[in-house]
Amino acid sequence: MAKITAPRGTYDILPGESRRWQYIEDAVRRVFQAYGYEEIRTPVFEHTELFVRGIGDTTDVVQKEMYTFTDRGDRSLTLRPEGTASVVRAYLERKLHAEPQPIKFFYIFPMFRYERPQAGRYRQFYQFGAECIGSSDPITDVEMIAAPVQLLRTLGLGSFEVQLNSIGCPQCRPTHRQILVEWLKQREDKLCATCRERMERNPLRVLDCKVETCQEATQGAPCSSEHLCTECADHFAEVQEYLRVLDIPFTVNPRLVRGLDYYTKTVFEIVSTDVGAQSALLGGGRYDGLVEEVGGKSTPAVGFAAGMERILMALQARGIEVPINLDYDVYVAPLGAGARPKAVELAFALRNRGLRVDVDYGGRSLKAQMKTANRDNVKLTVILGEEELHRGVAALRDMETGQQEEVALDDIVHRCISIRERAGR
Ligand code: HAM
Repeated sequence: MAKITAPRGTYDILPGESRRWQYIEDAVRRVFQAYGYEEIRTPVFEHTELFVRGIGDTTDVVQKEMYTFTDRGDRSLTLRPEGTASVVRAYLERKLHAEPQPIKFFYIFPMFRYERPQAGRYRQFYQFGAECIGSSDPITDVEMIAAPVQLLRTLGLGSFEVQLNSIGCPQCRPTHRQILVEWLKQREDKLCATCRERMERNPLRVLDCKVETCQEATQGAPCSSEHLCTECADHFAEVQEYLRVLDIPFTVNPRLVRGLDYYTKTVFEIVSTDVGAQSALLGGGRYDGLVEEVGGKSTPAVGFAAGMERILMALQARGIEVPINLDYDVYVAPLGAGARPKAVELAFALRNRGLRVDVDYGGRSLKAQMKTANRDNVKLTVILGEEELHRGVAALRDMETGQQEEVALDDIVHRCISIRERAGR
């Protein structure tokens, strides 16, 4: 029979490894709660229509990357390829627009895109992100950059670059678009087939093409930021001003356009200077038209999302070890079948008091049990011999000093806790 493996582009997070994820997730929760963002969890799948309308039907995500299926009720559903459209759907469906605005969300959940897997690019990947819906204040744009910057710095990741651009709004974009299409037409023969095809439909995306010849051909292309209306230009200037106030270095990258259609005004990416090809740690921007697109009233909004795997790769590239303590506090070693009930009782009592406790599972010899205790890096071992049990005592061994003492059974829990507390656990 053929071996069953995890589907291509997916992977397991094994026990032990999951602590690294939890460490980042805890940091994400701490940072976002400090900014007043609260967690949202949305379904893993949504009606396909949400993403087609939200992300845009000319984008790669919608055209080539969605995991779409028909369920038994003949509905077209899609595993979410990103979180923004789902959050906007929940905002509307749950009438959060009727509450004081803005509503500030963060999320940590898996996304699904049928992409060609490589290091840092998966078919099921994890994002954390935030969305602020209901404010047009440039401070909210800046929060979406400042919060992840704070997070990256907290994690010890100092080597990254904030890239910023403004792609304008439905007022000013048509002018730029027309100028850009004219400009691209003059260089059409130098563009790849995909770019020639999308030149008229989505000319901004041509600037984002990864094909080298396209990148060369579009050097010096007309920039969106040179054609902004007054409102967009003022907004862009304010975002930059607040970033300077907060001492967050950034580069204006006129070619930064992003791969999803919903963006207006501010777009940004934070790029690692440590990891290779998949260097975009996170990306985001303002999307003032999306709420309306999904069926609500015109509502300004801004957000970002980061790739968890990319953050982990950057930590690794920097040689940053996540502080993980998988050590046990206590190992409970019964000697002989008669001691097992007491061992079980003791182990559960210690666990109830919050200590990390391992216990013998197989009625093994003391030697075998000590081997496990050493593997666990255990700090204390309680040895329960049948003879000692009759006397109402047990041996308590400090594994670091090797010292052993006899302790009354009634005192064991208390004694273990006080030793561990003294050790600063
Ligand atoms: P995105 O640029 O498509 O934006 O994805 C954000 C981040 O997710 C990327 O910078 C990257 O770190 C990570 N990422 C994307 N695709 C993959 C993949 N196949 N494997 C591993 N990591 C990946 C969005 O998703 C928008 N929803 C961001 C946003 C929120 N804009 C406004 N609000």
